[in-house]
Amino acid sequence: MSVPEKPPFVVAVDGPAASGKGTIATGLGKAFDLPVLDTGLLYRCVGVVVLRAGESLDDPDAAASAAALLTADQLDDPELRTRAAGEAASRVAVHPKVRDALLDFQRTFARQEGGAVLDGRDIGTVIAPDAPAKLFVTAAPKVRAERRWKQLQAQGEAVSLEDVLADIRRRDERDGGRDAAPMRPAADAVLLDTSEMTIDHAADAARRIVEAARARWNTSNEG
Ligand code: C5P
Repeated sequence: MSVPEKPPFVVAVDGPAASGKGTIATGLGKAFDLPVLDTGLLYRCVGVVVLRAGESLDDPDAAASAAALLTADQLDDPELRTRAAGEAASRVAVHPKVRDALLDFQRTFARQEGGAVLDGRDIGTVIAPDAPAKLFVTAAPKVRAERRWKQLQAQGEAVSLEDVLADIRRRDERDGGRDAAPMRPAADAVLLDTSEMTIDHAADAARRIVEAARARWNTSNEG
């Protein structure tokens, strides 16, 4: 009798901008020895390519062409970490054609042998709905704005805290209100509010949640 292959252990980490999900995903990758994909970088890259080509972020075809040509080596560009790239990302992310063009890249990453950690907005709902471990990481908008403001300061971007808070609120509204794969927790996601937590505390809490999911997954895949 053939032994059924063990499915990949996929960890989905979703949540709004600057909720701590990126740091949490990196920590989970280390703790469980899994590769990590920051899917926000894909949308950021599409936005930056469209802007560099002088095309409109509101043109679904221009953005979908950039998405179709995207390769992993484009994701190391430091420009993808800027405030403008975040805004451009959320504008191109509303187009269903763009989301479709990025689907294969993300699913292939998720299905690699052993598993993977992916962070984004729609990982638990669309990209990997069968993921055995799902987290939805949140924090109050003001807390997130302060975190993002500090990051931008460290990168040398001069911007006021008020402007960063306005960016965050606008992005939450656009990401949560769009028709295509809106940002929302999967029904089976564990909610983790990091407003009152240090990043180490949040990473520990996430690790415990995923450890419990992994134990359940191991049991259900035994023998
Ligand atoms: O996570 P990050 O802030 O880098 O994401 C940038 C933007 O990319 C988000 O505001 C969202 O509009 C889009 N995004 C998305 N789906 C994902 C990841 C990011 O729509 N899975």
